[in-house]
Amino acid sequence: MTDTDIKKGLAGVVVDYTAVSKVNPETNSLLYRGYPVQELAANCSFEQVAYLLWYGELPTDAELAEFERVERGQRALGDNVKAVIDLIPTTAHPMDVIRTAVSAIGASDPDADLATVASSLNKAARLYAQLPAIVAYDQRRRRGEDLVPPRKDLGYSENFLWMTFEEVPDQVVVDAFTVSMILYAEHSFNASTFTARVITSTLSDLYSAVVGGIGALKGPLHGGANEAVMHAFDEIGTADRAEAWLDDALANKRKIMGFGHRVYKNGDSRVPTMKAALDTLAEHYNRPDMLELYETLEQAMGSRKNIKPNLDYPSGPAYNLMGFDTLTFTPLFVASRIVGWTAHIMEQAASNALIRPLSAYNGPDERHLPG
Ligand code: SDX
Repeated sequence: MTDTDIKKGLAGVVVDYTAVSKVNPETNSLLYRGYPVQELAANCSFEQVAYLLWYGELPTDAELAEFERVERGQRALGDNVKAVIDLIPTTAHPMDVIRTAVSAIGASDPDADLATVASSLNKAARLYAQLPAIVAYDQRRRRGEDLVPPRKDLGYSENFLWMTFEEVPDQVVVDAFTVSMILYAEHSFNASTFTARVITSTLSDLYSAVVGGIGALKGPLHGGANEAVMHAFDEIGTADRAEAWLDDALANKRKIMGFGHRVYKNGDSRVPTMKAALDTLAEHYNRPDMLELYETLEQAMGSRKNIKPNLDYPSGPAYNLMGFDTLTFTPLFVASRIVGWTAHIMEQAASNALIRPLSAYNGPDERHLPG
């Protein structure tokens, strides 16, 4: 065994097949069940994309109507889940709240095992329906505001925004939110999805796998980056201070959140679509300053490190313009990625293969107790 045999971080290691999505760094593309994500973001609702990722095909009108009927009937935050959330201090990080809430839902499910794909689909669909209420309620309670019940007359995105802000914003905002949900939904064997697959591979339950995914996504090297991007923007303040901030950060060996990617080395295929949504939001809210800061920092990072933005870079400022608290950004990622995670959980459960890699030992040679 030599150092070159070891693939730290599993970088570049192909560990299994998946039919859920294809990330193609060579062509800078991302396919969800064969469809380019850019086409889906421009033409579909998040409901249609969720159905595609779970079932492998886009829904017919009748299938979509039934899917929406079930989802709209499951949106309300359960009294038991609300009671668990209310036990957690409002100073807790929302990712800890959402992780605990999913655990509570799982603990209350009498049939939590990964019994069949059908039962897993029902559990996945229920989490997909209830996560907006959890995310929205946690932001509102941090602001000292009351729970806003869901509305069955609204689509997924409109209802999510309604429960968060007690109003449905202009269509341009709803559309940008939908684009973000579609783009965040799935990305092959990223750290949180692979975590969920490892947990599933032991034949543990779907909720444990999702809770594991939430734990992995929280980290700033992964999903937590969208929150960290906004913290950086707040630190920088105005575009004229971006270069000095960046030079200081790089001099101190800091990672610049929202930039770089383990797989995409010539730019994240999703960024142009999310940046276009950010552009429309900046115009809608008359915030050219946000775009100026965004573009100044991106250019400076490109000139100094030739490292390009990932999806978290445009998503953070976009969620800020929509009115979400910065701490709510990664929970929004969870509300979307629950679809990808559960699609992979079902795929892994069907493969029935325990994930257990090897390690090379570099500790003390064998030795024995005295006497
Ligand atoms: C997501 O995998 C997925 O698909 C994830 C995701 C999804 O949809 O699930 O796309 C979502 O997690 C996007 C990534 C969000 N994270 C960030 O924005 C955090 C900042 N990014 C970096 O930490 C980094 O780019 C990673 C972790 C994302 C990727 O790192 P790699 O592939 O391990 O690359 P690396 O760290 O080995 O970097 C190579 C070089 C290093 O320089 P040297 O030490 O060799 O001199 O590039 C540098 C790094 O220091 N570098 C950065 C940098 N990213 C890479 N330097 C400063 N800032 C950065 N952001």
